[in-house]
Amino acid sequence: MKNTFENFLDRFSEKDWLAAIEKLVSAIHDVDRNAVQIWFRFYPLELFRFLQTAEDKAKAAQKFVLQGDYELKNQIDSSHKFLYAHRFWAETKAEIETRAASFNNDSAELSAVIEEIAQAVAAKVKADQSLTLSIAAVGLMTLNQTGFEAFKNAPGAIEKPKGILAKSPDQIVKARLEDDSQGIFGFLKTVDKKFTVTFDETTADGKFQIVNDEELATGSSKNQTKDWRATDERRWDGVIPVECRSAACGTCWIGVLDGEEKLSEVSRLERKQMKVFGYNQPSDAKPFLRLACQARGYGNASIVIPPWNGVFGRKIYGVEDVELQPATTSAKKLRETIATATNDE
Ligand code: FES
Repeated sequence: MKNTFENFLDRFSEKDWLAAIEKLVSAIHDVDRNAVQIWFRFYPLELFRFLQTAEDKAKAAQKFVLQGDYELKNQIDSSHKFLYAHRFWAETKAEIETRAASFNNDSAELSAVIEEIAQAVAAKVKADQSLTLSIAAVGLMTLNQTGFEAFKNAPGAIEKPKGILAKSPDQIVKARLEDDSQGIFGFLKTVDKKFTVTFDETTADGKFQIVNDEELATGSSKNQTKDWRATDERRWDGVIPVECRSAACGTCWIGVLDGEEKLSEVSRLERKQMKVFGYNQPSDAKPFLRLACQARGYGNASIVIPPWNGVFGRKIYGVEDVELQPATTSAKKLRETIATATNDE
């Protein structure tokens, strides 16, 4: 039987969760601002609920052509490893468990509950609350999709932060913003400019190169440094899983942690297909959720590859109603707003 806290969380729709994140997003540090919004799109609540209540779950998954690991219950301690705040997972998980056991405020606002947990974790780990809000939100949604027992029984163990993610939040943001040097005559270069796409910030070799104006999926397929397929069946041609390379299958979706402004604008085809697939792409011209076979790069970017893909937009959202969160605040957009406000002072 579900506890009071689980019943409380069950009252909220995916739209409610996204609205709560939108309300808190300006208080979240740049380092995790895109990351947390991407995470909520990688694990869509309405798809989860549909599968949970389906008469034949396996058949429904087959109908949605779901490939890879789409269930949070298999990744309670790891789905958020691309967040800076992943390092606070053990403390966040413990705090959520404590609250869940004694929760009695049924009329609480979702964003307020997230804030309370973030505040308690921040005090425990001696960090600013701007660094714990993301993992508090992610932790609550993880509990919502896995149930209290499974959540509690997960070990809560994580690896020590590595690679770029071992740096301070400001250093990470700075590192993500840098472009590769094109040499002293770089300004004369046009077609042969080369840039780096980081797909795993926790390892030194978690990157591939693209040439100027190249689709990310094309650059990714030139990286044959490892047997990528051994890590994920869908990675048969490079780092990013691909199939059609023409915006028809939805296999190559990615989140952009930073550098989305250095990618090409979303075409009408990509915009339409993202809705068909069910991926909640923000309405910006250069959003943080893309198809790697469509997005072309003009600078360095840091991306994250979801562990699954599918085609469920029509059934779960209906194409007309797929814009769950038209207003979004990407790290880039917020940086610009803050810069303008500072200049105006
Ligand atoms: S590879 Fe099929 S949509 Fe990109």
